[in-house]
Amino acid sequence: GRVCLAYSGGLDTSTILKWLILEGYSVVCFLANVGQEEDWAEVEKKALALGAERMVIEDLQREFVDEIVFRAIQCNAIYEDRYLLGTSLARPIIARAQVRVAQQFDCDYLSHGCTGKGNDQVRFELAFKACNPSMKVIAPWRMPEFIEKFQGRADLLKFAAENNIPVSSSPKAPWSMDDNLVHCSYEAGVLEDPDHTPPKELWTRTVDPADAPDKPYNFTIHFDKGIPVKVVTPEGEATDSVELFKLLNKIGHDNGVGRVDIVENRFIGLKSRGCYDTPGLTIARLAHVDLEGLVMDSKVRKLRDQFVTIEWSHALYNGMYFSPEREFLENSIIFSQKNVSGEVRMSVYKGGAYVLGRKSDASNLYSQEDASMDSLDTFSPMDTTGFIAIQAIRLEKYGLQKIKDGEP
Ligand code: ARG
Ligand code: SIN
Repeated sequence: GRVCLAYSGGLDTSTILKWLILEGYSVVCFLANVGQEEDWAEVEKKALALGAERMVIEDLQREFVDEIVFRAIQCNAIYEDRYLLGTSLARPIIARAQVRVAQQFDCDYLSHGCTGKGNDQVRFELAFKACNPSMKVIAPWRMPEFIEKFQGRADLLKFAAENNIPVSSSPKAPWSMDDNLVHCSYEAGVLEDPDHTPPKELWTRTVDPADAPDKPYNFTIHFDKGIPVKVVTPEGEATDSVELFKLLNKIGHDNGVGRVDIVENRFIGLKSRGCYDTPGLTIARLAHVDLEGLVMDSKVRKLRDQFVTIEWSHALYNGMYFSPEREFLENSIIFSQKNVSGEVRMSVYKGGAYVLGRKSDASNLYSQEDASMDSLDTFSPMDTTGFIAIQAIRLEKYGLQKIKDGEP
């Protein structure tokens, strides 16, 4: 049979590639460009040298930004109050493209190098099932015959030496990384001790806030229906989705914005420590949340915050992108963003991102007149007496009950 393998060029997936070939499969390798740092030509050369039938590399950056990253911004996506979902957001785009490639080259199987303890295996395989239910999955890190043979890095290196798999001469970072346009993640290895502070050299997408410029950097983000459509800086502007997202990444990078270090709950039930640097999305999310304050209805916002944001984020985290609930939620996200148009002036400084001001022509909900302490024209303060009296009925009864029961 023929396998379509998600191939990165690293030691793990190179071992899997060779192992599949030795097991008698022909292998089409697939690598998605979702904005990670990579020597593409080198990966292709390596795959073909190891015996892959072909190496397919696809640039999916635009699909990634337009379809998922911007949706994440529109709903302020966040997992467990901290994680902006960088890895989770890219998985559906990668998996769907891998299925496309597998179909194109008549593959019978899909394969990946995810470990048996993580979220990524779940995300890939749920996406595979949704995109092509008839394709079978080979997950070597969950196959007894594979894990018995490769019990540690030493076994992988021995196999590499025996099978002419080139191993990069630069020493491997003592943690695992996953890099894309949105973030770089760092997990495992020395980071498994949650009290081990990540060393300065771990972070690849942000400068150390202490080393960032001593001067605030100001710029403006324009939104149309919750989607960033223009970023204006003192040096110029960007309007193309991928370009403007990269510009936000650069602004965040240079000023040390977007680092988090957390312990999170994986879908499979394990706790795991992860560090993430997410410069552009951290800035875009803050600006978007701020603009919503100006233009969004209060009850819609409350329902969205309590339900839609959390559920959409969990759907993405748990690999449920190709699900009816995700589509259902997105209809309400789009409705909620009808008037989220305007501009937010921002500043970044030594690891922090701040809002300097915001404006919008799209909504009449905020009125300087109504809110003004000086104006008596639009709203009578006397009306509020009744409002408070009615609101207080329940609380008065509750307070009397407490006195009766002798509770403090
Ligand atoms: N814990 C994060 C998540 O589940 C990051 C996973 C990183 N994946 C990786 N293969 N290194 O989304
Ligand atoms: C992996 O286990 O392959 C990476 C971590 C994760 O998927 O959560």
